[in-house]
Amino acid sequence: GDEASIHDADFSYEGPFGKYDQNQLQRGLKVYTEVCSACHGLQYVALRTLGDAGGPELPEEQVRAYSTQFEVFDPELDDFREAKPSDHFPASGLENAPDLSLMAKKRAAFHGPYGTGLNQLIQGIGGPEYIAALLTSYTGEEKEEAGSTFYENTAFPGGWIAMAPPLAGEDVDFDDGHSNEIHHEAEDVAAFLMWTAEPKMMARKQAGFVAVLMLLLLSVLLYLVNKKIWAPYK
Ligand code: HEM
Repeated sequence: GDEASIHDADFSYEGPFGKYDQNQLQRGLKVYTEVCSACHGLQYVALRTLGDAGGPELPEEQVRAYSTQFEVFDPELDDFREAKPSDHFPASGLENAPDLSLMAKKRAAFHGPYGTGLNQLIQGIGGPEYIAALLTSYTGEEKEEAGSTFYENTAFPGGWIAMAPPLAGEDVDFDDGHSNEIHHEAEDVAAFLMWTAEPKMMARKQAGFVAVLMLLLLSVLLYLVNKKIWAPYK
C-alpha cells in the first residue's frame, strides 16, 4: 500500500492504559451488521462475547435478539436454524471475501522507515488504521480484468481491490447520535474489528502492568538484599 494514504488514528484502546470505547464498539458492530456482513463473516467470534465485559457489552437479552438474525447449520438437526448466543457469527457469505475475525491483526499500516518497521514501536502495527484507510481510500476509478471489476484504492497493496466501495457515508444511523460521516463509520468498524481480533486486550494490559510492578518491586528488594549481604565486606 501507499503508506502516505494511511494515517495514525487516536484509538481509545492505544497505550498501556487504553480501553475499548464501548459506544464505539457498538457503532462498529452496527456498521459490520448492516454493511460488511453481507459479504464478510466473523466465524471465529462467538455471538455471546458481544455481552462480555470490555467489549460492546450488549445486555443479555439484546445478545439473544441480535443472534436470531443469523442462520447457522446445526449438524445435530442436519439443518439450518436460528443462531443462539452460544453459536459463532456465520462465515463469509461471499466466497472471495475474507473472514474479518482476525483481519485487524493480519494487516499492518506502518512498514517504515525503509521497510524496517521501526515506526511500529511508536505507532503500533496499525491493522485498524489500515482497515479505516482502506474503506476511505477509493479514488473512484474502476477497471475490468478477466471478467472481474477492480476498484482503485490507494491504501490497498497493489492499488486495485475486488471489493466495491462498501461505505459512502451516512450508511447507518448510530443509536448514540454520533456522526455517520464516512471516516467515522470507517474508524468505528475498524475499532470493532480490533476488538474481534483481540477481545482480551484490556485483561492482557492489566496483567502486564501488574507484572511490571512486581518486577520493579523485586528489583528494589534485590538491591537492598545485595547491599545488606555485602555490607560487612565493604
Ligand atoms: C476484502 C473490510 C464490506 C467484499 C476486504 C478486506 C477488508 C475488508 C479489511 C481485506 C483487504 C486486504 O486483503 O488487505 C470490509 C469492511 C466492510 C466490507 C470493514 C464493511 C464496511 C464488503 C462488502 C463486500 C465486500 C459489502 C461485498 C459486496 C470484499 C471482497 C474482498 C474484500 C471481495 C477481497 C478483495 C481483494 O482481495 O481484492 N474487505 N469489507 N466487502 N471485501 Fe470487504
